[in-house]
Amino acid sequence: MLRSVITGTGSALPARAVSNAELAEQGVDTSDEWITERTGIRQRHIAGEGESTATLATDAARKALESANVPASDIDLIVLATATPDHTFPATATQVQHLLGCKPGGIAFDVAAVCSGFLYALTTADALLRTGSGSKALVIGAETFSRLLDWEDRGTCVLFGDGAGAVVLEARDVAEDGPGILASRLHADGAHKELLYVDGGPATTGTVGKLRMKGPEVFRHAVVNLAEVLREVLADAGVVAEDLDWVVPHQANARILDATARKLGLAPEKVVVTVDRHANTSAASVPLAFDVAMRDGRIQAGQLVMFEAMGGGFTWGAALARL
Ligand code: UT7
Repeated sequence: MLRSVITGTGSALPARAVSNAELAEQGVDTSDEWITERTGIRQRHIAGEGESTATLATDAARKALESANVPASDIDLIVLATATPDHTFPATATQVQHLLGCKPGGIAFDVAAVCSGFLYALTTADALLRTGSGSKALVIGAETFSRLLDWEDRGTCVLFGDGAGAVVLEARDVAEDGPGILASRLHADGAHKELLYVDGGPATTGTVGKLRMKGPEVFRHAVVNLAEVLREVLADAGVVAEDLDWVVPHQANARILDATARKLGLAPEKVVVTVDRHANTSAASVPLAFDVAMRDGRIQAGQLVMFEAMGGGFTWGAALARL
């Protein structure tokens, strides 16, 4: 059967890491104790001069290509998830295509589903590969959320960071019990826009705007929606939570990760956690965490890995892959 198989991963972070204590020293009315206790975050990376969503995405993609042993010239599909593109247009994916030296003429576009962006990008790329629109894809999540933050709003500015993660996805004819993306589900509900949004945009204020969030309400929706979509994907694939080797969740808050794992009866040691180091990097968080756990050897070939995320829109989704 034709499946989309993950054959490589990569990630990139801005050079500068900023600790919780540094944020407090720089005038944010907060403390290391509050941030660590309420979120599990200890530091985040913040993009500096010369670093952008496109540069981080290109670095992550280059490393993913190296690990897959695929030359850039073989890539005929790039789906890049971001809410912080370098420019309103063109799509950041087209810049990455050019910067990497991919063959011109392939497909390249961005998807905007905020923190669920990587799940939307992965599912879209999977569908395009399985219907013959491409053979080798890069699926990228890349963000520079620091450029959307209101540094006067301690309820949001301490939560986010910048970074990028990428996977190489290849269409392959595999056995039924072979590798590949086995199931995925995506959802959206636009009724909750006011709980998490950016108060600007080209067609409204003409400015980029700042991130606004009602954190506790988003938290409640996240736990319910994530547990539900995880159950759907498990049922679609005909597996149970105990069969999973790893869960690579969106890294918004350590307490959301714990609550979701408890709801599903998942062992906490099977959940990959990087929120302490990266904070919430929106669409980059799942592929960043995935790359960390691939490179440190935790995730192995043949294992069952669940990805999940929930974010602004609301949008949410999950996908199950065998490595
Ligand atoms: O990626 C998209 C999905 N996003 C999320 O999943 C985010 C979900 N939400 C959350 O992670 C949490 O709701 C937050 C981390 C945003 C907030 O944690 P919380 O435990 O829900 O705190 P809270 O907003 O209810 O605030 C509790 C107190 C408030 O003070 P009072 O009113 O009780 O006196 C806040 O003003 O903590 C205060 N507070 C802070 N104190 C120090 C809020 N932010 C900070 C801060 N430092 N940075």
